Amino acid sequence: MSRIAYVNGRYVPQSRAQVAVEDRGYLFSDGVYDVIPVHGGRLAFDERYLDRLDRSLAELKIARPMSRAALLQIMREMVRRNDIRNGGVYVQVTRGVAPRDHKFPKGIKPSLVLMAKKSKAPPPDLLVKGAAIITVPDQRWARRDIKCISLIANVLAKQAAAEQGAYEAWMIDDDGMVTEGSSTSAWIATAQGELVTRPNGVEILPGITRAVVLDVVRELGLALQLRPFARDEAYAAREAFLTSSSNFVLPITRIDRRPVGEGKPGPIALRLREAYLKAARHG
Ligand code: PDD
Repeated sequence: MSRIAYVNGRYVPQSRAQVAVEDRGYLFSDGVYDVIPVHGGRLAFDERYLDRLDRSLAELKIARPMSRAALLQIMREMVRRNDIRNGGVYVQVTRGVAPRDHKFPKGIKPSLVLMAKKSKAPPPDLLVKGAAIITVPDQRWARRDIKCISLIANVLAKQAAAEQGAYEAWMIDDDGMVTEGSSTSAWIATAQGELVTRPNGVEILPGITRAVVLDVVRELGLALQLRPFARDEAYAAREAFLTSSSNFVLPITRIDRRPVGEGKPGPIALRLREAYLKAARHG
């Protein structure tokens, strides 16, 4: 079955979907996006994702292309037309199409594009062995809380990981603290078993999976510290894991080639993974 994309009001075969060369997303990365997960044929946590999209749009002063209800309707239609059981819907909004000029053009409409994707089977052994990650300097701009389509620093970080046979790269700020992964949120459990993840702020994207897992952590009454943690603390951690819409909760067993804890997926990460998946099926 060929994939169907949505481009500015029309559902079109994805292979023939097109945007204008003067789209400001193409010229300036002047746009935002989000990826809403689909579990069992249903969008999960869609209100939280739409809140984040609204916030990204507001921060960049890009007009909402339509009401939330209308956008949700299109998202559901994309799930249906692409026959997605498990996967995600990608939504991108750019400021619109205009002759190249940095300042905001007057009187243009935002461009709206949606694509839907089935989730790929994870690499064999990833869950059994856990993920290996590397660390790289965080080279992004100062407003990482906005889900902007400008992802070049994230792209370079993920590529560096791939070239070293690793699954993800954790980015390190100028103070030696972990900000987050190139497309995932970062967590550790200390030797005392306390969970640590960085609080929301301009330094990181407010991950929705992270927010759902934080709710679970609080429900389960697990010890939690919302604070930045250093790369050295991650090396010495009992467990490490990442969270994202497409990876859920994924144990990390190597950081910069050093084993984390016993070098096996840890019990806290595996428990949180189960709890997240249960919430996603109902959420
Ligand atoms: N990535 N941090 C960054 C920099 C991200 O790009 C993402 C998501 C996350 C995790 O957020 P969430 O739990 O809401 O998926 C953290 C998306 C999925 C992507 O770029 O494909």
